[in-house]
Amino acid sequence: MAEPVQTPQAFPTRIFSGIQPSGSLTLGNYLGALKRFAQKQNEGIETLYCLVDLHAITVWQDPAVLRQQTREAAAAFIASGVDPKRSILYNQSQVQAHSQLAWVLNCVARVGWMYRMTQFKDKAGSNAENSSLGLLAYPALMAADILAFKATHVPVGEDQRQHIELTRDIAAKFNHDYGVNFFPITEPLIEGVATKVMSLRDGTKKMSKSDPSDQSRINMTDTADAIAKKIRKAKTDPEPLPETVEGLDGRPDAKNLVNIYAALADMTQAQVLAQYAGAQFGTFKPALADLAVAKLGPITAEMNRLMAEPDEIDAILGRGAERADAIATPILNDVYDIVGMIRSRQV
Ligand code: AMP
Ligand code: TRP
Repeated sequence: MAEPVQTPQAFPTRIFSGIQPSGSLTLGNYLGALKRFAQKQNEGIETLYCLVDLHAITVWQDPAVLRQQTREAAAAFIASGVDPKRSILYNQSQVQAHSQLAWVLNCVARVGWMYRMTQFKDKAGSNAENSSLGLLAYPALMAADILAFKATHVPVGEDQRQHIELTRDIAAKFNHDYGVNFFPITEPLIEGVATKVMSLRDGTKKMSKSDPSDQSRINMTDTADAIAKKIRKAKTDPEPLPETVEGLDGRPDAKNLVNIYAALADMTQAQVLAQYAGAQFGTFKPALADLAVAKLGPITAEMNRLMAEPDEIDAILGRGAERADAIATPILNDVYDIVGMIRSRQV
């Protein structure tokens, strides 16, 4: 194995993140991801956001539904403030470097690293032997997503921390094995009060688009009525809201609703409690429902408007893919050179 060469290389700040278009996006995706994606873009940082359709097919997807959900997710990004002119917004399969770099990284990563991933264990369930090979290799494709752009920062929810750590391990092993300082060691950005929005039916479980109970989540496409009803029925305990944040310890359902309020209102938990200490849920839930409807209503309306013009969405994704391709292809070519591939084809 070659000795690592110390060739310090500056990696300019570049943000990349992805979301699977494999179900309706939830309030968890909005608060934990989309809202923060728009904020990063507005801070003037270079931002790339990707609908990871190749990740989605690691479990079975109906093709027509997948196409529809990819457009819906694109609409959700734009309605949440991701501006396709300022950010690069596209779907993964239109940029070939994702798959091509994933293969190289498959050969850098170790099988044992993949088996340790909790998302794999959760998704594979009791019959891991019968899951797709893609589901096992999923994190190497995710590393390729990030490293194809030499992204330095990745905003995600708490559930993705382990995958980003693996991306760092893969980048470091590539750099070490080939004696280069080629890939950055990417930092996760897991910030804010909404890094883990929990289920409305069980405050110890993540709110997820794949939860069988629709009552457990607020979908970004829910009507105002549905949102209000779900919040009214959300699981709580009989105590009033406490005065301090510590008073929420051991009260996961109450804590979740306070967190959701804080994230929607751009407040801290303490500020929410300063306003609602001593309040019963009979008072707090309607206030939360009103706030959720006020914040999500305009986003849903904008999503519906965009969804009425699928050709326009496809055109936006195509333009984004071209811009992404222009960044990723030279990086992929460098990778091929580093690993010893002949590139003599005239293009
Ligand atoms: P996924 O829906 O699994 O593709 O996740 C897309 C992004 O949303 C990732 O950054 C996740 O970490 C984030 N996310 C998903 N569910 C939640 C949740 N319940 N709370 C906070 N962030 C979430
Ligand atoms: N695995 C992520 C999730 O399930 C989605 C994803 C794929 C991603 N590639 C990425 C997130 C690259 C950040 C960066 O949420």
